[in-house]
Amino acid sequence: MPEGRMTEPAASSALIGVGVGPGDPELLTVRGIRALREADRVLAPSSALDAVGRAESIVRQACPGSRVERLLFAMGDAGASIDDAAATVVAGLDAGQRLAFVTLGDPNIYSTFSSVAARVRELRPGAVIETVPGIMAFQELAARSGTVVLQNTERLALITALDGPGALIGALADPTQAVVVYKGGRHLPAMAAELAAAGRLDGAVVGELMGLPGERVVAVADAADGPAAYLATVIVPPTGRAG
Ligand SMILES: C[S@@+](CC[C@H](N)C(=O)[O-])C[C@H]1O[C@@H](n2cnc3c(N)ncnc32)[C@H](O)[C@@H]1O
Repeated sequence: MPEGRMTEPAASSALIGVGVGPGDPELLTVRGIRALREADRVLAPSSALDAVGRAESIVRQACPGSRVERLLFAMGDAGASIDDAAATVVAGLDAGQRLAFVTLGDPNIYSTFSSVAARVRELRPGAVIETVPGIMAFQELAARSGTVVLQNTERLALITALDGPGALIGALADPTQAVVVYKGGRHLPAMAAELAAAGRLDGAVVGELMGLPGERVVAVADAADGPAAYLATVIVPPTGRAG
C-alpha cells in the first residue's frame, strides 16, 4: 500500500461483536449462534494465550466445533492489546473475512469490543462493524434471584464500583431508582455497609460467576463477610414500591 493511503476493506468483510451472555451457554441467543456459524473467524479476548477465556468457553459449549482464536489482553497494557487486536481484525477485513469478536454479556456495555471497534474504525473508516446483543449479567441475576428491577416509572442506574463509593452513595439517594453495580466484587463488604447505611440492604442481591464454576447467587447481606470475584454483579431494587 502506498504510504498515507487508507486501504478500503473488501466488500464482503465485516466485524461483528457478538454478545455471548454472562456464562450459561443457554443464554447465547439464536442470532448470536448464527453470527458465529457464519463467521470466517471467531476471535475471543484472553488474559493468556494458553488460557481459555470466559467468552471462549461459552462459545465452545454453545457451538461445539467452532475454532476460536485468542487475542491477548494482558492486564495493565490495555492500549497495546487493543492496538494488536485491531491489527488482527484489520488484516482479516482486508482479506475479505467476516470476523466475529465474542464478548461476555452485551458488546455495547463495558466491553473490550467497543474499544477494538473504535480503533478499527480509525484504521478502516469504511469497515462494516455490527453487534449482536447479548443477555447482560444483571438480567440473569434478576431472573435467578426473582428480583423485579423496575416497575411503573422507576428508573435504573448502572454504575461500576471503579468510580468509588461516592457513585454508589449518590445513586442510592433516590429510592425510586434501582441500582446495578458492575465490577464491584472486591468491594462487596464496603458496598454492603453503604447499602445498610442508606436503608437499601433489604432485597439487594449479588450474583458471582453466574453460569460458571464457583457460581453464587445470594442476598448481599449474606455475602458481606468478604470480597467476591471480579465477575460479580449487584442489584439494589427500588424501595417503597406502591405495588
Ligand atoms: C467488563 S464488564 C462486562 C459487562 C458485560 N458486557 C455485560 O453486558 O454484562 C464485567 C462485569 O460484568 C459483570 N459480569 C459479567 N459476567 C458476569 C457473570 N457471569 N457473573 C456475574 N457478573 C458478571 C460483572 O459485574 C463484571 O465485573
